[in-house]
Amino acid sequence: MKKYNPQLNANGELHHLLSIEGLPRDILTHILNTAESFVTVAEREVKKVPLLRGKAIFNLFFENSTRTRTTFEIAAKRLSADVINLNIGSSSTSKGETLLDTVDNLSAMQADMFVVRHAQSGAAHLIAKHVAPHIHVVNAGDGRHAHPTQGLLDVFTIRRYKEDFTRLRVAIVGDILHSRVARSEIHALNVLGVPEIRVIAPKTLLPTNVEQMGVHVYHDMAQGLKDVDVVMMLRLQNERMRGALLPSAGEFFKYYGLTADKLAHARPDAIVMHPGPMNRGIEIDSGVADGRQSVILPQVTFGIAVRMAVMSILAGN
Ligand code: CP
Repeated sequence: MKKYNPQLNANGELHHLLSIEGLPRDILTHILNTAESFVTVAEREVKKVPLLRGKAIFNLFFENSTRTRTTFEIAAKRLSADVINLNIGSSSTSKGETLLDTVDNLSAMQADMFVVRHAQSGAAHLIAKHVAPHIHVVNAGDGRHAHPTQGLLDVFTIRRYKEDFTRLRVAIVGDILHSRVARSEIHALNVLGVPEIRVIAPKTLLPTNVEQMGVHVYHDMAQGLKDVDVVMMLRLQNERMRGALLPSAGEFFKYYGLTADKLAHARPDAIVMHPGPMNRGIEIDSGVADGRQSVILPQVTFGIAVRMAVMSILAGN
């Protein structure tokens, strides 16, 4: 019997996007293929398609964001939706209104979709369980739990440069413990058939039993990066750290910061990725971040097409 997945409707179609965990390969592939068709929209003189005309999409970002919030807004506008960005700082949240009361009031304004970022893991699930059946919810990052559209845009970027997932070695480096991005990437890479996923980090920045996610653990950059095709760097997420997990940022850079010397252990055609925001000189050297192997800015651009794909698929189901 198939496991119940709150993201899917009775026909097994995507109704909300809350996490990559539990999604079948055909749904991920459908999102990636749909995103491919949206890449060219950006190249047109009029960068718009009418797929979400008349739909109201609310961006609810209770945590800071540059890339995700902006690219969701651009994506929704390119789909011709009406986009409402709730300014949390000046909203009634500051007067003590609960998350679900806020959602109920916005639903009363005929919302069709909520895009939600929240510091609390599970916030998007809570909203998805609460809203009326016609409303779709997209998780734009919840605590350290999941960031599914980031995971999707990352695998989309990899596919653009490397094509065949089944022949790849991918290394994810840095603060795995606090990273919703790493969790979503690992699920996506596993579902798409990447045979070797490595995580490279000090013991203090790894979740217990991380191997159970289908990854190989390394604590040394030279060994972990050897012959990999893709290097994904992560930011030290100080806002989610409790206690001193590292001697210092300088010490972290010395052992785990990606420099040209360390990158030389990877394949010569390896690509370097980072979800952003980057902390130069802490997890990545500027020469590498801006170097010929970096695809960090293309990741951002592809994020628009991937978010267009997610929203158009949800609205069609
Ligand atoms: N990658 C990412 O989530 O960046 P933002 O926090 O700027 O949205």
